[in-house]
Amino acid sequence: MTDTHFDLIIIGAGPGGYVAAIRAAQLGLKTACVESRATLGGTCLNVGCIPSKALLHASELFEEAHSGALAKFGISTGPVSIDVAAMQAEKAKAVGELTGGIEFLFKKNNVTWIKGRAAFTSPTSIDVGGTAYTATNFMIATGSSVTPLPGVEIDQKVVIDSTGALELDRVPDHLVVIGGGVIGLELGSVWKRLGAKVTVVEYLDQILPGMDNEIRKESAKIFKKQGFEIKTGTKVIGVAVKGKKATISVEPAAGGAAETIEADAVLVAIGRRPNVEGLALDKTGVAFNARGQIEVGHDFQTAVKGIYAIGDVTPGPMLAHKAEDEGIAAAEFVAGLQGIVNHDVIPGVVYTHPEIASVGLTEEQAKERGEIKVGKFLMAANSRAKTNRDSDGLVKVIADAKTDKVLGVHIIATLAGTMIAEAALAMEFGATSEDIAYTCHAHPTHSEALKEAAMAVQGKPIHM
Ligand code: FAD
Ligand code: NAI
Repeated sequence: MTDTHFDLIIIGAGPGGYVAAIRAAQLGLKTACVESRATLGGTCLNVGCIPSKALLHASELFEEAHSGALAKFGISTGPVSIDVAAMQAEKAKAVGELTGGIEFLFKKNNVTWIKGRAAFTSPTSIDVGGTAYTATNFMIATGSSVTPLPGVEIDQKVVIDSTGALELDRVPDHLVVIGGGVIGLELGSVWKRLGAKVTVVEYLDQILPGMDNEIRKESAKIFKKQGFEIKTGTKVIGVAVKGKKATISVEPAAGGAAETIEADAVLVAIGRRPNVEGLALDKTGVAFNARGQIEVGHDFQTAVKGIYAIGDVTPGPMLAHKAEDEGIAAAEFVAGLQGIVNHDVIPGVVYTHPEIASVGLTEEQAKERGEIKVGKFLMAANSRAKTNRDSDGLVKVIADAKTDKVLGVHIIATLAGTMIAEAALAMEFGATSEDIAYTCHAHPTHSEALKEAAMAVQGKPIHM
């Protein structure tokens, strides 16, 4: 074997690709990972999950101290101000530590990082910066990029995408977010907490597409209570930039009179699309569907033997943990083992305050499949949430009416992102709502609300 031939070459070092590379190397495969960014970790570590959570954390601390909310606990602060440059520096430090950590793990596990952009030259070879590499197996883990809004140019100064919104060096006076999805609400929350007025313009008649309808409505109420202006059923017809200001023209999605909104920052967050361009897939025979996604079989193999695909570039939710789990399973298949990902049990979390988390079917989806029972418990009746004076939200458990098997769990709560893991584990083990209801939960914890919602499926919660 030469230095340019590998058992497996993975293209892309995001959570899908880097995790697959480490697992493959652990399983004894001679593995390389091609990444064109200056650092490893993909969208998630560089311009996604990690920097957004760093800013969400910092902005939450600022808001707590600044809003006067601490006074009721007897805590008084002096004047509270935000140094955006310092906040951004701390974020960059966290990102640097984590991306550097992946580089360390590559070295530790003997994964070769091929630096540069890969393009296929045949089903068994790629070109990276003029050097040819061959492999017995390839894995496409090229992720996704921001979906552009036709006619609206991103300049990363006034009109920004998520990457620009993570890099702002000032708090805008008025931020208009186009798209009431996960990015719009998370990054809208960051800049709102730091003092911006935030208007969300959403084309559909509800924010957070794909989530349980009741959760979408309840979330919108909470965001409005926090001061978000949310314009649903509204279409953006144009954005005009003059100097440091933007004028956004909108009209009702169903048609009607247009109006304009003035802003000094416009965040375009209308979704992401798979990265398939520039890979020269035509040299391999691998095709992509109308949405640009590469379809794969149960073993993550594309239509071409020996070429696998995982993560955002394939169908399914665009989530880091989905990409990671697929990376592990796909690497196991390449190594001749049986990899497993249960695509019915992939949790999703919106890291706003409160957090919004879900796993499994929405009430609407579950009803389409048969008779169901639904149990709910309000966080306002949960002792810990109440003690913390932070009790917006609810837990909703959906179970099959006949078998009682849990089909879906939806949570709005400060700790929803942590609580949903228990629901995912229960569903993975095929739990009934009764199983959750009769599991002893520590008191006082937010998790007791899940137990109570499960008890409510049987019609017998204690504290409500
Ligand atoms: P990516 O992470 O996109 O990585 C693909 C990598 O491939 C990139 O580094 C790219 O440079 C490289 N690449 C592409 N083409 C080539 C090529 N031809 N040659 C060499 N390299 C190439 N998900 C969550 O689960 N939780 C969150 O909290 C969360 N927050 C997010 C916040 C934001 C602002 C954004 C934008 C996304 C967030 N996501 C979150 C989504 C998450 O980042 C993605 O689902 C995840 O990164 C997908 O992983 P991946 O490995 O498929 O692709
Ligand atoms: P999204 O799909 O979550 O939301 C986009 C929103 O924009 C939708 O509500 C859609 O109806 C709306 N929209 C589309 N076109 C529009 C238009 N022309 N005008 C107004 N509204 C329009 O996409 P988003 O927020 O960009 O996030 C992309 C992906 O990144 C998500 O799929 C998500 O999986 C991932 N992500 C995950 C996070 C997490 O797990 N916490 C955080 C951030 C991103």
